[in-house]
Amino acid sequence: MQVFVDCDPGIDDALALAYLAAQPEVRLVGVGTVYGNNAVDVTTDNALRLLELYGARDVPVAAGAGRPLVQPPSLAESVHGRNGLGDVVTPGPQGTAVAESAAELLVRLVRSAPGEIDVLALGPLTNLALALGLEPELPRLVRRLVVMGGAVQVPGNVTPWAEANVSNDPEAAEVVLGAGFDLTLVALDVTMRTLADAAWLDELAAVPGERAAMSARFLDFYTGWYSRALGERACAMHDPLAAAILVDPALVTESAEVPVRVELRGEYTRGLTVADLRRWSPDSDSRPAVTLATEVNSAEFLKRMLNALR
Ligand code: BDR
Ligand code: CA
Repeated sequence: MQVFVDCDPGIDDALALAYLAAQPEVRLVGVGTVYGNNAVDVTTDNALRLLELYGARDVPVAAGAGRPLVQPPSLAESVHGRNGLGDVVTPGPQGTAVAESAAELLVRLVRSAPGEIDVLALGPLTNLALALGLEPELPRLVRRLVVMGGAVQVPGNVTPWAEANVSNDPEAAEVVLGAGFDLTLVALDVTMRTLADAAWLDELAAVPGERAAMSARFLDFYTGWYSRALGERACAMHDPLAAAILVDPALVTESAEVPVRVELRGEYTRGLTVADLRRWSPDSDSRPAVTLATEVNSAEFLKRMLNALR
């Protein structure tokens, strides 16, 4: 399968790239970067470094948006470190980003292979919204879109209601979720139940090799932040879970086909993802449904994640 990743690395983005790079059936055709966990020049440099580390330096990396469509950006250095990778210094990249923007690269790739490329969105959805502006047929040209973002029936992580990737650009998320993609939404509802716990982290620490060692060091920083939030030594595997679901949709064991909107105006609820979960919902809403993952096989994913780092 051909996969384009749009991301803001980002420690869990790094693990997602490691996961994909280790799957024999996956061919990474491009990586777009976006502000989010850090500024876009930092996330772009990180994407290049990570592809180098994972033996995928030939994959084109395109720098994307440096700010959201409407609001000013806000970064997540407390969660991901000042350099976005837990302040761990990785080997310098040999390559540089291509001249196209992330949106331009995505549009060019899917136009050249209509219906063949899967897209994984792991950061704010600004690049995808910009790509829709360049190519309104994008939902038909992309085979399948998996988005890590949102919090439907659970609390948010940046505000009581809003998850980071949606909260970072609510206008972009509202456009993308309503555009008519074959879209699976991997929200905090499932990622906050997919935790790498102390036993898993200890198992990773015992895996030989640079890839595993670097990932363990990234996760040390990330787990420091999550342990304070969760009250135990553990961290949430948001982005790698979405990557694994892209590769194997069967990891989603229960889902709902529902329209999802983003609250754009609420004084306290801006960035909230509102899914219409009513069974008897009136049929007057023409907004396309997305597949909302409501149950996943976390144990199987965690096993596969560890194998990918071996
Ligand atoms: C999402 O926000 C980012 O900080 C993570 O990389 C992940 O994509 C989780 O809310
Ligand atoms: Ca991310």
